[in-house]
Amino acid sequence: MEHCLLGKMFRQSLLGLHLLVLISVFSETDGYYGYRTTECHFRSRNLIHVDYIRTYNFNKFEYMRFNSTVGEFEGFNLFGQFYADILNNDTVYLQQLKDLENRYCRNNAIIFFSSLLEKSVQPEVHVRTVKTASGTNPAVLMCSAYDFYPKQITLTWLKDGEEVTSNVTTTELANGDWYYQIHSQLEYIPKSGENISCMVEHASFNETMIYDLEPEPKLESKPELLETVKFAVGVSGFGLGVILAVTGLIYYKTTRATGMVEVVT
Ligand SMILES: *[C@@H]1O[C@H](CO)[C@@H](O)[C@H](O)[C@H]1NC(C)=O
Ligand SMILES: *[C@@H]1O[C@H](CO)[C@@H](O)[C@H](O)[C@H]1NC(C)=O
Ligand SMILES: *[C@@H]1O[C@H](CO)[C@@H](O)[C@H](O)[C@H]1NC(C)=O
Ligand SMILES: *[C@@H]1O[C@H](CO)[C@@H](O)[C@H](O)[C@H]1NC(C)=O
Ligand SMILES: *[C@@H]1O[C@H](CO)[C@@H](O)[C@H](O)[C@H]1NC(C)=O
Repeated sequence: MEHCLLGKMFRQSLLGLHLLVLISVFSETDGYYGYRTTECHFRSRNLIHVDYIRTYNFNKFEYMRFNSTVGEFEGFNLFGQFYADILNNDTVYLQQLKDLENRYCRNNAIIFFSSLLEKSVQPEVHVRTVKTASGTNPAVLMCSAYDFYPKQITLTWLKDGEEVTSNVTTTELANGDWYYQIHSQLEYIPKSGENISCMVEHASFNETMIYDLEPEPKLESKPELLETVKFAVGVSGFGLGVILAVTGLIYYKTTRATGMVEVVT
């Protein structure tokens, strides 16, 4: 079955499109169930290609399906084929189902685009080193997504394109203003030549987004800072010298004065 991205998004976020019709439930140990599903598969946002799909099932067995692009029923076993042959003879019914491609799928899609997808806000994503590795201590990397809506989001760490699941800690927060943020921390021992990135999946994106680890900020301000510190130490050293000299002078003057007093007595 072809799963276009948009179709996938719809199925993830919209159970509403997945009309579940329970036909019968018999109670035995686990029960049996027959059901029919209705799905709309959109290949792209322009809605040129839409498949209206109806499936007919008993327990986990799909025995028949209607696909509007095919235009008729298809049976998957003897019973399904028998039933499909009968229904496929009814051209009026087939046309009614085909019309649902527009009446049901396209019409709803326009509503869903405007009421769900377009009401999403893209996250601002940063992938940073918060602690560099030292000795046997691993580096700590942080993938953060800020100010997005809606809440559902997936962050995945990738090492040379492969998913990393161990040593990952994730924290989700609500900003309190309808927006959300999420922080995923990875403890990791760096190896040279290894490419670490963070994959983000969110309703506001048409596709999964991949963000590379940002280069560590070069501490160009550091020597400058050091100069400032040196200057500050120098100034305070000078100040201390002045204070000591003045104190010394006062002390010298007082003792001399006392000495003179002593001489007088
Ligand atoms: C419906 O049929 C068309 C044509 O055979 C096919 O390309 C498409 O993948 C089918 N859709 C689904 C969801 O199976
Ligand atoms: C379908 O219709 C044709 C002709 O109208 C008929 O010969 C055939 O028996 C029908 N098939 C079924 C399964 O009803
Ligand atoms: C790192 O991997 C990601 C995902 O596999 C890729 O998009 C990116 O271009 C790679 N970056 C480098 C610098 O190789
Ligand atoms: C990460 O987890 C693995 C086990 O899944 C462990 O061997 C490793 O030491 C952990 N730490 C780092 C920093 O990779
Ligand atoms: C998604 O794709 C459509 C057209 O294909 C484009 O107009 C829109 O800006 C894209 N949205 C995002 C969030 O990339």
